[in-house]
Order: sequence, then structure tokens, then C-alpha cells
Amino acid sequence: MEVLILPQDVAAELVARHILTLIQHKPDAVLGLATGSTPLPVYRALERLIAEWEVDTSRVRGFALDEYVGLPEGHPQSYRAVITREVIEPLRLTPSQIRVPNGATETIEDAPAEYEAEIAASGGVDLQLLGLGGNGHIGFNEPGSSLGSSTRVKTLTAQTRHDNARFFPSEDEVPRHCITQGVSTILKARHLVLLAFGESKAQAVAAAVEGPISASNPASALQLHPHTTVLVDEAAARHLSNAEYYASSYRNKPDWQAL
Ligand code: GLP
Repeated sequence: MEVLILPQDVAAELVARHILTLIQHKPDAVLGLATGSTPLPVYRALERLIAEWEVDTSRVRGFALDEYVGLPEGHPQSYRAVITREVIEPLRLTPSQIRVPNGATETIEDAPAEYEAEIAASGGVDLQLLGLGGNGHIGFNEPGSSLGSSTRVKTLTAQTRHDNARFFPSEDEVPRHCITQGVSTILKARHLVLLAFGESKAQAVAAAVEGPISASNPASALQLHPHTTVLVDEAAARHLSNAEYYASSYRNKPDWQAL
């Protein structure tokens, strides 16, 4: 794992530049998209840089990590709606370029296998953006998720429903279930980029990067991946015991821009 300790805006710019360089080399690159507030600065930087660099994104494809189950179609907090608002429209993509798991209850039984098949048929995810839940979840893989799991329906923890209540009129309206890529689905992506900022993520970052690998902390599974980049700010890096080493290895990197 490579850990970069950078201010949030610098990290977002670095990741956006890296993604666009990837697209320039591979115009039909497959991106793994995350929701939540953490990746938003990356999407804003992408929006700006796509125009500045005149990058052709017409062949890019993307897969979202997760979706709530049972929200009515078009609900503003469905991840399909969030991805449309934050990624598809500003990056001038067409909706068919980006897939989001189907959280409709009527078809939920078949949705996980269909999503896995779609990801596999795309040739696999080149770069997966990841946020980090305060309890160590990635996607919606809550503590206790099998590290060998693939896309499936999960029950959200009370903590996650509480954390996400800020997006809904009341906590009661946060769905109880979700469909999420599994930990093993996520680990199949060729490059994982985990972002976490702020003091509230510090414990989860330390557990993910330096803690034991355990289903109790799904983000710790990233340690098994040969190419994971973790970008955190000073506040989120607070509990890392090797912070000095990470900083020096980044400083001494031959090509500072490469992730
Ligand atoms: C949500 C999402 C995750 C996200 C996490 C952190 O529950 N399902 O994909 O990484 O919470 O959210 P935030 O970035 O808003 O802190």
C-alpha cells in the first residue's frame, strides 16, 4: 500500500490528473465510482480538467459501488441519482456509460449476479475510487462482510444509517438494505484508490492500513491488493504509526505525479 498524506484539494487534483492520464492512454478505461462526500472534489477536478485538457471521455465506462434497495426510481438520494448529478452530467457522459447496481425490489434477486456479469464483461475495473466508512466499510460492505464476498444485498448497520441520515429528511427514511459490490469484487479492480479526510476517519484509516486483516474491518482487505493507493490528509493520518515513513517514501518517489 502506498500512503500519501496531502491536503484534500491537492489529493483530489492528483487523483483527477491520474484518472485523465489513464483515459488518455486507454480511452475505454473502466472506472469504479464511489458515492459519499469524499470523492466529490475529485469529480469537480475532473470536470475542470476534462475541459482544460480536451480529453475525449466518450468511450469511458464506469461502475458504481453500491445502491440503496427500495428507493423509488428517481429518488434524489438514490446513488443512481447522485452519480447522474455528480458524475454523468458534469463530466458530459451519457447515462449508458455508467452502471449502478439496480436496487429495485422487484428484480433484486437477480440484480447481484447481473451486476457481477456486467463488470466481468467490461474487462474489469481499471481504477476503483473508494471512500471509507467510519466503521471501516468500503462500498456498503459493513463490518462482518466476508472478505471473499461478491455483489449482494446487505443490511445497513445502525451506524451507517445514522451517518447517512444527513442526506434524508429523517433517519427513519434511510433505507435498511443496499446492494453492494463485495470485498472480493472490489479487490479485482486493477488499482484501488482509497480517499479519507478529516479526524472522523482517523481510526478507520489506521485500522485499514496498519490493523490486522479482518472481516470486522472490511477496508483492511485492501492490504491484500498489490496496487492500493491511500490518500489522506493530516487529520485522517493522525493515528498512523508509520506516517513519517509514508511521507519520506512519497518525497523520494522518482515521478511524483504517478500514483
Ligand atoms: C457511504 C457509501 C460509501 C462511502 C462512505 C463514506 O455509506 N456507501 O461508499 O465511502 O459512506 O461516506 P463519506 O465519503 O460521505 O464520508
